[in-house]
Amino acid sequence: MLTLLSPADAHSLREFLQAACYTDLEFRKRPGLRELPARHSGNWPYLMDYTREPTVLNFLLRLFLFGIPLDYKLVSEIVPPGILTILLNSGLLNLEANQLQASVMLTPLDNYWFVADPLDRIKSAEAKDFVLWANPTTRILNQVSIRRHVKSILDLGAGCGVLSVLAATNGDRIVATDLNPRAESFTLFNASLNSITNIETYTGDTFEPIKDQCFDLILANPPFFVTPSSNQMYCENSMDLDQYCRRVVREGATHLNDGGYLQMTFEWVQVQGQSWQDRVAEWLDGTGCDAWIMRGYTRDPASYAYERIKEEFSINPERATQMFTDWLEHYRRSNVEQICGGLFSMRKRTGDNWLRIEELPLDISEPIGESVLSLFSTQTFLSTNPADEELLKMKPRLASGTKLQQSFALTDHTWLPDGLNLTLSGGLPGTISIEFPVAEFLASCSGDSTLHELIVAVTAKVNAPVDQVRQQCCSVVRKLAERRFLAL
Ligand SMILES: C[S@@+](CC[C@H](N)C(=O)[O-])C[C@H]1O[C@@H](n2cnc3c(N)ncnc32)[C@H](O)[C@@H]1O
Repeated sequence: MLTLLSPADAHSLREFLQAACYTDLEFRKRPGLRELPARHSGNWPYLMDYTREPTVLNFLLRLFLFGIPLDYKLVSEIVPPGILTILLNSGLLNLEANQLQASVMLTPLDNYWFVADPLDRIKSAEAKDFVLWANPTTRILNQVSIRRHVKSILDLGAGCGVLSVLAATNGDRIVATDLNPRAESFTLFNASLNSITNIETYTGDTFEPIKDQCFDLILANPPFFVTPSSNQMYCENSMDLDQYCRRVVREGATHLNDGGYLQMTFEWVQVQGQSWQDRVAEWLDGTGCDAWIMRGYTRDPASYAYERIKEEFSINPERATQMFTDWLEHYRRSNVEQICGGLFSMRKRTGDNWLRIEELPLDISEPIGESVLSLFSTQTFLSTNPADEELLKMKPRLASGTKLQQSFALTDHTWLPDGLNLTLSGGLPGTISIEFPVAEFLASCSGDSTLHELIVAVTAKVNAPVDQVRQQCCSVVRKLAERRFLAL
């Protein structure tokens, strides 16, 4: 059991961790620190060698990341006594037979720190109610999350409360819920560790603890693994295939305020006779929500099962082989052809709703919440204004960071221009091939003139009827706005 930290102790501990460079910045620089440092993994010897010197940072890494006990005397020589007292009194460290052992895993993310279950628990008999630390899916959802200030945010399946703490400054009220009762105590502890005071916690199934409440933003990194078992609450659920994610979407829509967003990491399947697009489109029927779906990866059932089980092959090959066989049998029985993974964002809106599906890699290196908001507003504008009248009044602006790239092809020993591509880098990358006159037109899209004014200027330069220029320009602007190259 952890004892919540007083604001003064939390402050001292954070200062100490910062001074010791036990920070996200430092972890990003060191290969192996941000991923699971499993004992049987190839990078374990590297990590042991890397932390061999008796420094404060190495002691912290060994105790709190790798779960290695350390000699009390050795540690007390370089860690200030006040900090050791905080660590022992809060229960983060236990002392037994002169050995210090961490009871938790402690990891930095952004400018915060989080405790969760230690690594070894995941492979123990107690794994069922394991509370997970910030992992790649948490980080992806955090990067995509909308960061405008709102009244209420729900962190559904909060785990140790990472997303709640990270979102705390964006909402007046943050509600963290989880089926796992152990999650609640970790979330409360992490709120105290980071001196966050606006998080409420509840234990219960999905939306059950907040039955009658609606939110402006719901963030969910649910247990979405598509497996035949439900032994591990942090990644598996008891519903068939992808039905738990469908449930979150459908019930989530009823817990959104008008204009509110639900953002979720998820996996879903393609079954024989139904495309993966149609399957996920059906989830939205009648929800009153617009939705943008990013498909980040696709696996055939065998590759998916192998990827999920592969660690087990090096621990218990017999068990792993049996699991692999059972999983594939399950997929065959359910006619699963492929398993997809990605990001789901939806917004409650009265009117004819739209659904947009894109294929994009999930390695999102920077926050893109602003891009998500502008995507929703652009898509809504385009779908509610199919005629060009309103579009002509808009002042299109080329997205910052857009580049024009020319490619050449070798023809008869000569490099000849082969094509022009517009590219967008950053959080939401994109490429589209265009013609040179379009590129020229885009150069004038600075956000200062209306589309109508831009078209008048183009018509003066080219020898073509104004109606034809207008129609072509409107169609180009629609297409490029939809693909994020133009902001309206
Ligand atoms: C992948 S973890 C995500 C934890 C945390 N939100 C994060 O992003 O790191 C999924 C969380 O959902 C919780 N969970 C599983 N089934 C649930 C259910 N039926 N209702 C609510 N939470 C559930 C698990 O206990 C776990 O904490």
